[in-house]
Amino acid sequence: MSHVYQAVGWSPQKRKYDLLIVLCMVVYLCGFTGITVATQPHVTFETLLLRATGSLAFLMLSFILAIGPLARLSPRFLPVLYNRRHLGVATFLVALVHGAFAILQFHALGDVNPLTSVLSSDGSFGDGGAFPFQPLGVIGLGVLFLMAATSHDFWLANLTPRVWKGLHMTVYGAYAVLLGHVALGALQGEGKEYLWPVAGAVAATVFALQLYAGLAERRRDRAAIDPSGGPDDLGSHEGTASSGAVPEGFVRTVVAGEIPDGEGRVVPLGGERVAVFRNGTEISCISNVCRHQMGPLGEGRIIDGCITCPWHGFQYDPVTGCAPPPFDDRIDTYDVAIQDGFVWVNPVANPLGTASRTARLPVVVQAATPSGETP
Ligand code: HEM
Ligand code: FES
Repeated sequence: MSHVYQAVGWSPQKRKYDLLIVLCMVVYLCGFTGITVATQPHVTFETLLLRATGSLAFLMLSFILAIGPLARLSPRFLPVLYNRRHLGVATFLVALVHGAFAILQFHALGDVNPLTSVLSSDGSFGDGGAFPFQPLGVIGLGVLFLMAATSHDFWLANLTPRVWKGLHMTVYGAYAVLLGHVALGALQGEGKEYLWPVAGAVAATVFALQLYAGLAERRRDRAAIDPSGGPDDLGSHEGTASSGAVPEGFVRTVVAGEIPDGEGRVVPLGGERVAVFRNGTEISCISNVCRHQMGPLGEGRIIDGCITCPWHGFQYDPVTGCAPPPFDDRIDTYDVAIQDGFVWVNPVANPLGTASRTARLPVVVQAATPSGETP
C-alpha cells in the first residue's frame, strides 16, 4: 500500500494460477505444432514458431479483454480477473518472442537497419490490400510492452489510478491495430485466407461480450437509482432537493433502508461510480474504485469498521476514505443526506482525507404494549 517499489509477492494461489497459464501455453504450442506438422508438412520450423507464437499472443490478448465482461456477467471469472496482470505480462513475452523472431528471420541479415527494414519492407502505404502489416505489429508490441512495464502496483500508485487506467485503456487501440496486422498479413500471405475471418470472429466475440456486459451494467445502474425499475434516470432527480434537509445539487440515489448493514450499493454519479455504504445506522459514500488495482469497493463489506475491497482486502474508513495505519492510501468521499427515504449524494468529492458528512437512518421506535413494555 505504499508508493515505494516492492518486489511482487507470490502467494500459493498466484503460483497455481501462473502454473496454469504456463500449462495452457505449452498445450496450445504443442497442439498447434502437431496439427501444422500433420496438415502442412512442408512448413519450416521458423515459420511454425512464428505462427504458433503470433496466434497464441493474439488469442491471449483476446482472452484478457474478455475477462472483464465475463467477470461482470459471472463471479466465477473473478479469480482470473484478480490475476489478470500475470496473463498480460505472459502475453507480452509470447508476443516479444514472435516479434523478435520475425525481425531476426526477415530483417536482421540484410544491409538495411533491422528497424528500418521492418517498418518499410512489406507493401506500400497507399495500397489497401498490400498495406504494410509488420509496422502494425511493431506498434502493437510497443503498447503491450508499455502495459507490461507499468503493470506493477508501484506504477499504479505513482501514476495515480486515473492516469494508469487511461494508459491501460490504449490496449483496446493496440488490439484494433493488431487485428489489422493479422488480417493484412493473412491477405498478403499465400494460403492464409482463412486466418482473417478467424481473427475477425475472435475479435467480434470480444466486442460482443464488452457490449453485452456494458448494457447489463447500465441496466443494473438504472435499477439501483430507480427501484421502481421505471424509465426515470439520474438526471430527472438532480437538483430537486432544494427544500428540506438536502442541500442544492445533491443527487438522489438508492433507498437508504434497502442497504443491508455492513454492505454497499454501487451507483452512477456524474460519470463516475460511487459506493453508498451502511455501517449500523450510519450511511456514507466513497469512490467505488480501490487504490490497489481498481477493484469494485461497493461489492465489498465492512469488516472491523472498514470498507474492505472484495479483490485483495485493502481497507478504507467509510467516513474519511483513509486506509488504516500504517497504510497511507486515500480515496474520494462524498457528502450524503437522507430525505424521503433516499440517500442523496453530493457529486463533488471532498478533499482527500477529510471526514465526509454522513447521514443516520431513522431509528424505528417500537410502539409500547398496553402493559407498558416494548415487545
Ligand atoms: C515486432 C512486432 C511484430 C512483427 C515484426 C511481426 C511480424 C509478423 C510476420 C512477418 C508475420 C507473418 C508470419 C507468416 O509468414 O506466417 C506475422 C503474423 C502474425 N502475427 Fe505478428 N509481428 C509482430 C507483432 C505481433 C504481435 C504483438 C501480435 C499479437 C499479439 C502478432 C500476431 C500475429 C499473428 C496472429 C500472426 C498470424 C500467424 C499465422 O500466420 O498463423 N504479431 N507477424
Ligand atoms: S483491487 Fe486489490 S485490494 Fe482492491
